[in-house]
Amino acid sequence: MQAAKLLPMPSGQRPAPPILSDGVVTLRLPRPADAEDIALGCQDPLSAMWTTVPSPYTLADAQEWLGKVPTGAAWWASPVWIVTTPPSDRWGGSIDLRLDGHGGAEVGYLLAPWSRGHGHAARALRLACTWAFSSLELQVVTWYAFVGNDASRQTARNVGFQVPDHAFPQFSAQRGERRDSWIGTLTPESLAAASRLGDTRGQYLGPALTRRELDVLRHLTIGQSNRAIADDLGISENTVKNHVRSILEKLQAKSRAEAVVTGLRQGLTSLPN
Ligand SMILES: CC(C)(COP(=O)(O)OP(=O)(O)OC[C@H]1O[C@@H](n2cnc3c(N)ncnc32)[C@H](O)[C@@H]1OP(=O)(O)O)[C@@H](O)C(=O)NCCC(=O)NCCS
Repeated sequence: MQAAKLLPMPSGQRPAPPILSDGVVTLRLPRPADAEDIALGCQDPLSAMWTTVPSPYTLADAQEWLGKVPTGAAWWASPVWIVTTPPSDRWGGSIDLRLDGHGGAEVGYLLAPWSRGHGHAARALRLACTWAFSSLELQVVTWYAFVGNDASRQTARNVGFQVPDHAFPQFSAQRGERRDSWIGTLTPESLAAASRLGDTRGQYLGPALTRRELDVLRHLTIGQSNRAIADDLGISENTVKNHVRSILEKLQAKSRAEAVVTGLRQGLTSLPN
């Protein structure tokens, strides 16, 4: 047996699970208050058809799922997030990674019916995989979908997953029955190649800005000094400087003004009314 690459660590050695954002989609941690929306979203026929959630789906199922969301050190072996689209903080879907302990993880996701049709699953998938490659040092993320789930396959391909056209007979099970599946894999290289392609189409697919960096970027947009930003956000001027440096790096901007222009163009910030 090979030694596991990522051993569970005492919770004290892990930081709090991250909130990830690309300025359009934010991945946050699940909360008990999400139960009703989860129940509503998972009752949808497409969720039942294409995933392994219980069917019919009840509020009790949602509460049970929320009760099993790993916390502390266990979260890092099975990271799970809620997909939201700020300014709304409402549950708009879920995404999770199941680590195999050997540098790989399987990803699963679904969106609420009211969040579909805008490519939000691809954004969530890109955020989760980018983070997993850099923070967990994963070498591969695997994905599968039941044959016929074109929206999920296109989502995976848009993010850079290599998904052959052919089906893998009986690959996976759904509620006790085997189903033919499509399978795909994503490596850091295929993710980066797909992101470069996205960049040429004018979408922001670079490293995600943290929630705090987005706050700072919005302050830069209205021309505030580091001192004023520090006062407004209740942090030190030094911390603001670090955030600004990180923003410039992520947006590949040479100045604050250029970062603001890029941020405005990519929808990461907006001008006040
Ligand atoms: C799969 C799912 C997460 C995708 O959500 P989404 O981000 O709203 O997806 P979109 O509707 O924006 O479509 C994503 C891509 O698939 C394409 N697509 C959507 N439906 C399609 C179809 N029937 N045939 C071919 N392509 C399709 C879209 O054109 C888009 O591609 P593009 O951006 O290159 O144009 C969502 O449909 C869902 O939750 N379905 C039910 C649960 C599920 O299937 N989960 C995944 C299990 S593997």
